[in-house]
Amino acid sequence: MKTNLAAVLKDFANPPLLSIEAMPVPEPGPGELLLEMKLAPINPADINILEGKYGELPKLPTVVGNEGVGRVAGIGSGVKGFSEGDLVLPMKRGTWCQWMTVSAASAIPLPAHTGEAQAAMLSVNPATALLLLESMVCLSPGDLVIQNASNSGVGRSVIQIAALLGLRTINVVRRPELFAELQEAGADLVLLEEDDLRPALAGHFDGFRPLLGLNAVGGSSALQLANTLADGGTLVTYGAMGRQPLKVPNGLLIFRDLCFRGFWLTRWLKKAGMAEQRALYQRLADWMTAEKLTQPVAEVFSLSEIPKALEQAASDRRSGKILLDLSAS
Ligand SMILES: NC(=O)c1ccc[n+]([C@@H]2O[C@H](COP(=O)([O-])OP(=O)(O)OC[C@H]3O[C@@H](n4cnc5c(N)ncnc54)[C@H](OP(=O)(O)O)[C@@H]3O)[C@@H](O)[C@H]2O)c1
Repeated sequence: MKTNLAAVLKDFANPPLLSIEAMPVPEPGPGELLLEMKLAPINPADINILEGKYGELPKLPTVVGNEGVGRVAGIGSGVKGFSEGDLVLPMKRGTWCQWMTVSAASAIPLPAHTGEAQAAMLSVNPATALLLLESMVCLSPGDLVIQNASNSGVGRSVIQIAALLGLRTINVVRRPELFAELQEAGADLVLLEEDDLRPALAGHFDGFRPLLGLNAVGGSSALQLANTLADGGTLVTYGAMGRQPLKVPNGLLIFRDLCFRGFWLTRWLKKAGMAEQRALYQRLADWMTAEKLTQPVAEVFSLSEIPKALEQAASDRRSGKILLDLSAS
């Protein structure tokens, strides 16, 4: 008999009360697909949820995991357009398991030749990057975007997608050893977080300033980004890796007319229709299969190695994402 090992959260804490449990393999009901799960990343949001510190918390106990990828292994009655073996984004929480059922209407099919590891990381970070670049302010080719945490999954996606859209990026990191890698990925300029960014920018881009700043850190790092923006520019906060609040000097509002906004993919997905979602993921999958959009993988762990995997995912100076291989127990 097949088993369905799953990472089940019993209580929010640090370290979390998480155990690997053998559950029944679910049957796909009408309108559903059964997915054999392949790979799932551990993202900062997963760690925040395990700690009980996130915008929306699940009811406990729950199978954790915000994203991942699986292959269709069963098709419920009334489902059209899917075949066994299709690669699918579940678009449903609870991905850290070996088998799950999903609604066929909300699952996203991917091109057959999409690599499983990249596909597993497609639904959150690349989507966030594309929406940050296209839905916050109106940008034209040649415009400048500045971001911090540029080595993150979102940050690297921003670099690659911005280059595809003809935008230029200024990328702030906290480690000089990342400069060459990010420039190779398409970054126009890389700067160190500890530097004074406004004067550091002075000799670049003929005096043009960024219209959009993307903040995933908060605190003084966010303020540094805001200081570099063109008058009337927008700073979008979408992450809080530094866990420090953003204190905005009055002058940035009065004299520079800066706009401060937030972005949360969960909110966008709740509002967007399925056609809009599928169009977004089709664009991203096309770039991914053309190898124009990639996120590095630092290490892959099995479900039974989850404590070590979580420790690695929470560590600084990673060289990429930590993935869970759901087919290996
Ligand atoms: N709002 C949304 O819809 C949305 C969607 C996706 C992601 N996010 C958020 O975006 C952020 C990045 O997520 P991700 O999955 O792309 O991250 P990731 O790949 O796990 O990378 C984390 C990054 O954060 C940097 N970092 C960690 N602590 C930092 C600090 N104190 N100061 C400066 N940099 C720091 C790391 O720098 P090093 O490389 O130097 O260690 C690394 O580049 C997270 O906050 C996540 O929750 C939000």
